[in-house]
Amino acid sequence: MRIIDWLTDSCATLACPVCGVLASAAMTRNTALREAVPLPDALAGRSIVLVGLMGAGKTSIGRRLAARLGLPFRDADAEIELAAGCTIPELFSRYGEPDFRAGERRVIRRLLAGDPLVLAFGGGAYMDSETRTAAREEAVTIWLRCPLNTLLRRVASRDNRPLLADGDRGEILQRLIDQRYPVYAEADLIVDCGDESPDVTTNQVLNALLAWRAPRRLSVVLPSTTYDVVIGDDLLARAGALLAPRMEQKRAVVVTDATVERLHLPTLLRGLGETGVAAGQIVVPAGEASKNLETWQGVVDQLLEARVERRTTVIALGGGVVGDLAGFAAAATLRGLPFVQVPTTLLSQVDSSVGGKTGVNTARGKNLVGAFYQPRMVLADTSTLATLPRRELCAGYAEIAKAGLIGDAAFFAWCEANGEAVVNGNREVQAEAIMRACAFKAAVVGDDEREEKPNDGRALLNLGHTFGHALEAEYGYTGGLLHGEGVAVGLGLALRLSARLGHCAAEDADRVVSHVAAIGMPADMRMLNRRFSAATLIGHMRRDKKVRDGALKFVLARGIGRAFTATDVPVEAVTELLRDEGCEA
Ligand SMILES: NC(=O)c1ccc[n+]([C@@H]2O[C@H](COP(=O)([O-])OP(=O)(O)OC[C@H]3O[C@@H](n4cnc5c(N)ncnc54)[C@H](O)[C@@H]3O)[C@@H](O)[C@H]2O)c1
Ligand SMILES: [Zn+2]
Repeated sequence: MRIIDWLTDSCATLACPVCGVLASAAMTRNTALREAVPLPDALAGRSIVLVGLMGAGKTSIGRRLAARLGLPFRDADAEIELAAGCTIPELFSRYGEPDFRAGERRVIRRLLAGDPLVLAFGGGAYMDSETRTAAREEAVTIWLRCPLNTLLRRVASRDNRPLLADGDRGEILQRLIDQRYPVYAEADLIVDCGDESPDVTTNQVLNALLAWRAPRRLSVVLPSTTYDVVIGDDLLARAGALLAPRMEQKRAVVVTDATVERLHLPTLLRGLGETGVAAGQIVVPAGEASKNLETWQGVVDQLLEARVERRTTVIALGGGVVGDLAGFAAAATLRGLPFVQVPTTLLSQVDSSVGGKTGVNTARGKNLVGAFYQPRMVLADTSTLATLPRRELCAGYAEIAKAGLIGDAAFFAWCEANGEAVVNGNREVQAEAIMRACAFKAAVVGDDEREEKPNDGRALLNLGHTFGHALEAEYGYTGGLLHGEGVAVGLGLALRLSARLGHCAAEDADRVVSHVAAIGMPADMRMLNRRFSAATLIGHMRRDKKVRDGALKFVLARGIGRAFTATDVPVEAVTELLRDEGCEA
């Protein structure tokens, strides 16, 4: 008989020792300790799994941790021995490793499906991808990372380890470290432990657990695919762990710009390296000027020179420029490489990294060549915003306020109350804003993935953009006016035009302009300290690809949160508005 026959998860009689164990008093809550530490919110009903090599202290730490948290403790190896009625070395020699792992997988899945507990995994359990998936879904996983010397000392007295039975223990352990540490690094938390007492290590684990906050996750559900936007602090440092489930090959090429390379590339490379991902890098100059066909071709050439394969992931690390450029390079190279967005500006975290629009500018206008190409995952690390100049933060904020203005009056009111905290660097509020703006965009994109709906759907996301793009064109994309600044002014103008055409109250437009100004952005054209010609701006609008059959198309609003598309806006009304806003005729 094979072990797998005994460890079945379908039997409910005494014949199955596993079920017997689960129903037994062994699973009662650990109530012995009166001063149990309250469970951290982050756990939210999840179990705690400890992983690490033999000798890392999973059982001794696990017992103590369980006692401190008032949870039951289980040791997966002990449960398997109980279920099988013999020791692990006996199971290994009788059935071989593959059958042992299959049984182990069943026992672990069964344990994790029950009430929360602290569970120590056997050293090899976490190497199994199905078991890792179960742990990811049901538990917070903590890797007790130990140096070789400590492990050697601890296993010296034990002779019941099948994997250490033949050969030099140091060499065997080093080999296991090389194989397993890159996989253990997928754990949610890593706690380094050496020769401290178990109580000290337990405190370290407990502190790490109490400080831990699960990153927020938003699922973008599209007709073509589904992917997660992960939002939180210090995600670059854990990029390998977060991306592992979505990478087909432990190989990536990071595309970034020169500024972000200096500030954040080393952290990302370390985070990828932790799980054994080998990553090359392609660096382009910072700024909108890199979003052109020549730079794009350079990126594609470098990807090919790096001998990327169909399963090599392209990671865009940077703002919207890098995301649009690298996404389009990923879309075209070898007819499509897996693509991940790691946006580092507020604008790219709330807008450009979600939705799959990629592309470059040409001499004839912005974003005229490109592709719809969805990422496999988006990692929005709020810590990267700490190095972003305030002006860029404000520019990105315009796209957040835009989301509220288009379709969610309550979100716009939230922006009025919290916008300053967002641009002042409050991480929690930033994460909330990113989550809400991305959720809004995901819903719009989910309904109209390829911008095929003429009048609603994705077209609404262009609120403020017809004016914004015309202003950007005037500045020539040289950094004189940031995209978000153009949008900020454009939002006010779109509302003023709506009011002028009788669609909304003048107070709504005033509210938008004063909110934009309160954040510290240019709120109208007079604040741009430059004279514009109405005719020239309208000329830019006509060339904008949002023009349909020659008519001027605008996103207008019937009030805050009630945007709609108008295709028949009289040019005169736009000219009058622009003149009243200080433009020459
Ligand atoms: N694809 C879409 O759906 C979409 C949507 C909106 C905007 N966009 C595009 O996005 C682009 C604008 O994006 P952006 O505003 O992020 O510009 P950007 O990529 O040029 O970044 C702005 C500047 O900030 C620097 N930077 C980036 N991250 C930083 C950090 N963490 N710390 C310090 N400096 C940092 C960059 O080097 C750059 O100089 C435009 O090209 C626009 O067309 C695309
Ligand atoms: Zn925009």
